[in-house]
Amino acid sequence: MKFGDILKSKEAEGKEKHVPVIEIARGKGEAGADIVHVVVGKETPHPNTVEHHIDWIELFGVKQNGQVINLGRSTFAPAYTNPNVRFQVPVAEFKAFCALAYCNIHGVWENCLEV
Ligand SMILES: [Fe+2]
Repeated sequence: MKFGDILKSKEAEGKEKHVPVIEIARGKGEAGADIVHVVVGKETPHPNTVEHHIDWIELFGVKQNGQVINLGRSTFAPAYTNPNVRFQVPVAEFKAFCALAYCNIHGVWENCLEV
């Protein structure tokens, strides 16, 4: 088995939505900074209870030369914090962004967005 075998993408979605949606807002942060917004359940909210919740989101950036940078991780308090996070990132330095999201019941989900 390889690590990639445990990653799920939109083809595996059921009625609950887990794929992290990535959106870029250039110049929309403080002092004109770029923002990379990552949210799980944008259209259909994912459950957020102690028994079933999104535990964390990680964001990676792929530079023009292919180098992968771990840009950050956000962990959430079940029943209190929704899986919706903004990372302040210099978007022009990257050719793609990839996010992971972990549901305590349904595993690790992936998505990428090319800039
Ligand atoms: Fe789930």
